[in-house]
Amino acid sequence: MSATADNISPLPPLYLQLADRLALAIRSGALGHGDRLPSVRQCAREQSVSVATVLQAYRHLEDARLVEARPKSGYFVAAALPPPLQEPDTSAPPADSLAVDVASLTERVMQMAADPHTLSFGAACPAPEFYDQERLRRALTQATRRHRALLCQYPQAGGNESARRAIARRALPWGCSLDPRDIVLTDGTTDAIGLCLQTVTRPGDIVALESPTSFGFLQVLQALHLRALEIPTHPRHGLSVDALALALQTQPVRALLAVPTLSNPLGASMPLGERKRLAQLLAEHQVPMIEDAIYNDWSERDEHRRAVRSFDTEGLVMLCSSFSKTVAPGLRIGWVDAGRFTPALRRLKAALSGGHTTVAELAMADLLQQPGYEPQLRRMRQTIARRVDDARRLIAESFPRGTRVTDPPGGIMLWLELPPAIDSLALFRACLEERICIAPGTMFSATDRYRHCIRLSVGGRWDDAQRQALRRIGAIAGAMLARAALPLAA
Ligand SMILES: Cc1ncc(COP(=O)(O)O)c(C=O)c1O
Repeated sequence: MSATADNISPLPPLYLQLADRLALAIRSGALGHGDRLPSVRQCAREQSVSVATVLQAYRHLEDARLVEARPKSGYFVAAALPPPLQEPDTSAPPADSLAVDVASLTERVMQMAADPHTLSFGAACPAPEFYDQERLRRALTQATRRHRALLCQYPQAGGNESARRAIARRALPWGCSLDPRDIVLTDGTTDAIGLCLQTVTRPGDIVALESPTSFGFLQVLQALHLRALEIPTHPRHGLSVDALALALQTQPVRALLAVPTLSNPLGASMPLGERKRLAQLLAEHQVPMIEDAIYNDWSERDEHRRAVRSFDTEGLVMLCSSFSKTVAPGLRIGWVDAGRFTPALRRLKAALSGGHTTVAELAMADLLQQPGYEPQLRRMRQTIARRVDDARRLIAESFPRGTRVTDPPGGIMLWLELPPAIDSLALFRACLEERICIAPGTMFSATDRYRHCIRLSVGGRWDDAQRQALRRIGAIAGAMLARAALPLAA
């Protein structure tokens, strides 16, 4: 069990300083849309930095959607950003914990989201075309050919060693130096979270969560008879550490379950300083945290990839993730390093399951170490960013006035706060009649606070029919708003 807790350097790295200067020039209009940036070599000469630093700065700006690379022509300031849309306020959930009951609505939405005849904005999962299926096929075929005898043996406890080493290497850019021996492979992040919760809580205990939160988390809490204490959450900066501090003083919170990077459904990412403060707060109160890092590699910013775990000096942060969003959800390979709770969690895992398919774990280890994996992640991030911009533009054009929407720095989810007169469950039903699936806000809380909110995922297919469906959701919401206003006018 080992996590680094080094200090944050006061000055950002050179490439970020350069990227910040260029971003300022773009935002101030000094560099206009479509303008060509100096060539990489010229910029290196002018700024007295290396070519590699300039390239890193340009790529950073590209990931932030401020510039675009044109083959053989260089880097250009990107086309105009989507129109400004107001973002939702920090959430304000009740101060008390609640029992959870979300199962039936969630099952219905997930069933409709998977229906091939539905235009879906419901599931937080990319469409199969999003993944590199050919690379996956090759890795699986090769692993099966080379290691077929392993299919006839029980797997190693904790999971295959090469896979655990590959995972430990992937956690280095998150600021974590994990010991592969402490990593336990799981059936996706969902399994990892269930194991963590069962390790540190008992039925009836209170678990703190972001508000709104992933409906998957609420389902796990419901299954384990745990109570949800929702914590105010900012749509860009994530969980409020101040609000959590207050809750820890007044409630017997047994664990925190949170997604510091690109939370679901808000897409919020906690600033670096808040991550450090959070680790300190947990240490002060000796409260364990389950850190779900499933979206870390989708983040557009390096500082958002830094895990809370990297600031944990007490072994309290149980770091979980999987490759469902980056390699293949169907492989069901996830993992957890449970810090000081590792021995108890490993015993629980061994008692509940005989492990997983070693051949699949070896294929994953191979995929993670291939040189093409990083460029594939970058391509994914860029495709996602373009879609999110496109979707936000369509929302600005077609949703009723007063709609607020998030602007996540990565990820495929948008959270919309509609005018309060719109009931998202009624909107969900009306959209279903036109075979369009959305996720109503009530799925994301044990409270009834988000009845006028919806989550839209843009990870499915993205074509004219899908864009048209997005406009249609806006039109249906507009019609509902107009109807709601009628009795008042009469
Ligand atoms: C925050 C979060 N955690 C976990 C999961 C499920 O992950 P896995 O497929 O690894 O079980 C999801 C899926 O959408 C998610 O959004």
